Amino acid sequence: MSERLPITYNKKPCYDIVFTQSFDSLWEELKEMGCENKRLCIVTDSKVNELYGEEVLEAISGRCLKAVKYIFPNGEENKTLKTVQEIYRYLIQEGFDRKDMLLALGGGVVGDTAGYTAATYLRGIDFVQIPTTLLAQADSSIGGKTGVDFDGYKNMVGAFKMPRLVYMNLSVLRTLDDRQYFSGFGEVMKAALIRDSLFYEWLIEKMYEICERDLDILQEMLFCSCKIKKNIVEKDPLEQGERALLNFGHTIGHAIEKAKDFSLCHGECVALGAVAAAFISWKRELLTMDEYYEIRDMFVPFYLPISVEGIDPEEILRLTKSDKKMESGKIKFVLLKKIGKAIIDNTVTDEEILAAVNEIHFSDEDAHA
Ligand code: GLY
Repeated sequence: MSERLPITYNKKPCYDIVFTQSFDSLWEELKEMGCENKRLCIVTDSKVNELYGEEVLEAISGRCLKAVKYIFPNGEENKTLKTVQEIYRYLIQEGFDRKDMLLALGGGVVGDTAGYTAATYLRGIDFVQIPTTLLAQADSSIGGKTGVDFDGYKNMVGAFKMPRLVYMNLSVLRTLDDRQYFSGFGEVMKAALIRDSLFYEWLIEKMYEICERDLDILQEMLFCSCKIKKNIVEKDPLEQGERALLNFGHTIGHAIEKAKDFSLCHGECVALGAVAAAFISWKRELLTMDEYYEIRDMFVPFYLPISVEGIDPEEILRLTKSDKKMESGKIKFVLLKKIGKAIIDNTVTDEEILAAVNEIHFSDEDAHA
């Protein structure tokens, strides 16, 4: 059964998240937005195109003014201004004007890149998110953050641009490889840890069904996880305060992602960053030792890493300082006060960060101990 979660922006209705298990109702949703009289461009990557590109193109072809598809190569390395420029050229060539629309079909890279293109082409055209990874469904497709990486820095250039609709077909999660799937789960666990201890307990209780990708359980899981994000982004859409809580695990996580040259998945780095942030929270006596070890070990059954080899803690510390999450030269660090309650703290010291990175660093000495 389909469900909807309406999202407001500045207290006014802005867009709905539709949770469903096929692409069958996609056209009905688009028609509601007047798409019969629009040109639509599906923006997708080579991998997602092979799986769903034709199905989505068929769902809209012959029903709107024009239906086209732009495909760029899969991979974070393509989340660049160069890809954005190529999409602009394609849109100009296909005669897209201000009232036309982009459909971002894919994971976080596609959503962020197509979203940024929509935010800037002709000073902004509409776009719809059709997220096809767990990471994109749980996090990146919601809340209007769009952007690209620049000079190796994640999401360094971007804009807030709200989608007109987020259409989640949960059945696509079944075609994700295990690594991609569980990596996305890192963002679900993050949502529970920062805001909802009951949801955290539910995730543990439903561990088997989540690992087996039971679609009804996944729908319930995503509905809860998106509701947590909804409550945060509706209050603080432009990240002037509370929205930064969603960056739990991301300060050290992004630094590891860059230090490892993007060889680890984003959600894997978030899990590592979350363990490090929970460690600092324990050392500050916000969490008990038992809570810290429970949080750390809860990532394991979901195949997420809790330690990482081959990093230089000093380099990670340096990279945390070049992350965007800085305010007047101070890192806005997210700590846990307890499971289900996160706080923003800008007093975390270099020593605390180094100790936390050493905690998750699996070194040769550990191997020989
Ligand atoms: N991914 C964090 C946010 O949307 O704010």
